[in-house]
Amino acid sequence: MNLKSIYILFLFLCFGGVLYFPCFAQKQQKEKRGLKDVYNTDFLIGTALNISQFERKDIRADKIIRHEFNCITPENVLKAEVVQPAWGRFDFRLSDKFVDYGIRNNMSIVGHTLIWHSQLPPFVKNITSKDSLQQFMEQHIAKVAGRYSGKIKGWDVLNEALNEDGSFRNSVFLEVLGKDYITNAFKLAAMASPHTELYYNDYNIEQPAKRNGAITIIKQLQLAGARIDAIGIQGHWHLGKIPYQDIEESIIAFSELGVKVMITELDLEVLPRDFSGAEVGHRMVNSPGLNPYPKALPDSLQRRLATDYEKLFKLFLKHKDKISRVTFWGVADGNSWLNDWPLKGRTNYPLLFDRNYQPKEAYYKLINLKL
Ligand code: G3I
Repeated sequence: MNLKSIYILFLFLCFGGVLYFPCFAQKQQKEKRGLKDVYNTDFLIGTALNISQFERKDIRADKIIRHEFNCITPENVLKAEVVQPAWGRFDFRLSDKFVDYGIRNNMSIVGHTLIWHSQLPPFVKNITSKDSLQQFMEQHIAKVAGRYSGKIKGWDVLNEALNEDGSFRNSVFLEVLGKDYITNAFKLAAMASPHTELYYNDYNIEQPAKRNGAITIIKQLQLAGARIDAIGIQGHWHLGKIPYQDIEESIIAFSELGVKVMITELDLEVLPRDFSGAEVGHRMVNSPGLNPYPKALPDSLQRRLATDYEKLFKLFLKHKDKISRVTFWGVADGNSWLNDWPLKGRTNYPLLFDRNYQPKEAYYKLINLKL
């Protein structure tokens, strides 16, 4: 090969490399993009963390969390029974680790939850005096929300305060303080953490009757001059039975009141269950057929899960101007609360990653949805 041919070959390789490399790098980069990157101009993509995850003991989960999500919610460690197990005795060891994990990874941090009728420390459930319960609310919110002021992006100030018909749930708060406890909670949270977003969070508020209850709460707060920045539709839905139209109507209805909408606890039940929602006190009696897939989810249901998640995200993208966040309630199937509720010891498959932390068909549907 003469000198001229070598020179031409050299030029070709250089020119080709200059062209090829960026495309190769871009292709590589595209392949490396996580959910948070794909949707980074639409809404935050979050997940709920358990203790072993934010303590970085579950390293496979940690890798997925940092690559896929830009927002985190504590599954349990910021609930009253954990942070104030006894009157005036606070324990922030776990919640501090959770918040530190979020700060270290430059994530948006959600506080879940200040006032909830469930997972309350026993001393609260037994309060009958108005002054005592008012004092608990003032102290709990000031101490907990105040501690993370400037670190937590938004609080589920109030969780699940409605019945399915849209009436106010009977709880120690409603019974002792009346419905003004709702406004009170939001005003206390705004004082404790003035730059933190304030949310009402509930399940089934895509259903018309319960949606009206949530609208009542939003209007009650706005009328009383209390700040509410967003409403959390939890999103504990069922494979094949997702109420897309109801969800869209609720997104629009809440948005029209001037609040942002978030999907806060998204998972899709794939096992037999004859009721919807996430009433934690609900239980089912075990019977044959309630745990049909102990080894693996059939391909047909894997495909259904993928198409249901895809259809949901198409709806969320359609209303991305109204939606600020979509959070999954867990990282991988093995972490899901649905393995033990409403029946302990079932093998469920509600999330985007399987028990070996491998992405499922549903994950790829969402990653490729915007291609
Ligand atoms: O921490 C104790 C542990 O010390 C004890 O050994 C063990 C014995 O079973 O229980 C542990 O507490 C469990 C707790 O999760 C922490 O793992 C409770 O039993 C268990 O009931 C609790 O479940 C949580 C549930 O809320 C409780 O209401 C789920 O993990 C959590 O995913 C679920 O999340 C709720 C949201 O906060 C609100 N929306 C509905 C959603 C699903 O119910």
